[in-house]
Amino acid sequence: MPSAISEPVEIDYNEFISPAAKNRVRNPLKTLRPYVSLPGIISFGGGMPHPSTWPVNAMTVSVPFAGQSVFVPGYNSPTPDSLLPLAPYNPPSKTDPAPNLVSELQYANMHGAPHLVSWLTEHVKRIHNPPYAGWSVSTTAGNTDGVDAVIRTVLKAGDNALVEEFAYPGLLSALHSAGVKATGVPMDGDGVLDSAIDETLANWNEGTQGPRPKVFILVPTCSNPSGITVPEYRKKDIYAVCRKWNILIVEDDPYCFLQIRPEGAAKPIVPSFLSLDIDGRVVRVDSFSKIVSPGSRLGWITGPSQLVQQIMFIREGSTQCPSGWSVAAISAVLRAWGGHEGFEQKYLPHISDIYAKRCLLMVSQFEKYLPTSICEWPSGSGGMFLWLRLKIRKHPNYSTKSLEEISDQIFKTLIEEKLITAQSFFFKAPGKEWSKEEEAERVFLRLSFSYPSEEDIEEGVKRLAKGLKKEWGL
Ligand SMILES: Cc1ncc(COP(=O)(O)O)c(C=O)c1O
Repeated sequence: MPSAISEPVEIDYNEFISPAAKNRVRNPLKTLRPYVSLPGIISFGGGMPHPSTWPVNAMTVSVPFAGQSVFVPGYNSPTPDSLLPLAPYNPPSKTDPAPNLVSELQYANMHGAPHLVSWLTEHVKRIHNPPYAGWSVSTTAGNTDGVDAVIRTVLKAGDNALVEEFAYPGLLSALHSAGVKATGVPMDGDGVLDSAIDETLANWNEGTQGPRPKVFILVPTCSNPSGITVPEYRKKDIYAVCRKWNILIVEDDPYCFLQIRPEGAAKPIVPSFLSLDIDGRVVRVDSFSKIVSPGSRLGWITGPSQLVQQIMFIREGSTQCPSGWSVAAISAVLRAWGGHEGFEQKYLPHISDIYAKRCLLMVSQFEKYLPTSICEWPSGSGGMFLWLRLKIRKHPNYSTKSLEEISDQIFKTLIEEKLITAQSFFFKAPGKEWSKEEEAERVFLRLSFSYPSEEDIEEGVKRLAKGLKKEWGL
């Protein structure tokens, strides 16, 4: 055995990396990153919120041993003078979350800070009112954490899960790393077809396909990528077919409150799966990422208590509990807006209006500049994305190139026009085998309106129109 450490030994880290880590697939949207720094580029590619939409733009942190407070700037708050006046401190009431750093900065129990869990439980009751006894709420570090914990609780390697035909890449990646096979279920303009779930399960062959799926995971509101909000009638039909096959429904719903509500708070949101759940077969996953900010890393999960408890056991050995800094800051925001009433009647409509305006602006620019002979678009339900269908069968290269090649070529032409878009191939889950003609009807661009300015939305759509016309030879 050598007695002294002298020369470094070269290590092959591949020997140390587990199959599960090697199995991780990266989100294909990350391939768009290099284009973001191109001079003059406009991006409709990612789905980031603009910092002007966040409800906090500065904070100070009191640091006693250092004898000073430290100012942390945010969007449009360059100096401590820009801090808003301190509100009088009212002791927390029953309707308020009651943040206190003495508890928030301590190890918390796995369900999260009791005051926030109780506020969120009341929130869930007011908004969704689950129609069965024995549901409960726990906090998570956001929906990525929540959905991952559900997957690890109910699925094992070799299992199958049903997802939307065009699914959120973060979900596909989480399933893949857990060794679970995703099967995409065909959709129409109202989301996944209940009849297609039924057909997929009726034709399931355990011999060749493995165990029959026992969960269906979807993004029911302003979906990522399709922007679709599943209407109530379709939710009821999907719920019925999931009952028939004893399937759990996981509703990953971070865009719930970004849905367009033209009449403001007076118009209720589309009822959630949780609100229809008489059996206790829905696990609902919510997040503050889209209604406060993605860096919050705070969310909540609602479902049958027994399942929620089991899901939390998974988290106890990973994220343990959400960050206490985040719990304190977000509870403070909820207090500032005036508890449940203020949150529901003022804050949420304020946020959904921001996204509704952006969404409708982009649709109006489509109407102004895009030729309907080569593409079609929905009226938009809010959220962050619009799903533009490309009429590929009319593309000049349709008979000579594969659909993926044509889609790539369109992406590159749009990059030449200095516009980033996301191709639907990034989101396609494996599933039904379509003929080329059928598949050609299912080629889209996901266009995000959440980050660009109004001017960039208009300019970006002009570039989109120019690039598409060039591609179709118009
Ligand atoms: C459908 C969907 N689920 C989950 C997430 C991630 O949410 P969180 O920031 O709460 O982890 C996103 C964000 O892009 C999303 O679009």
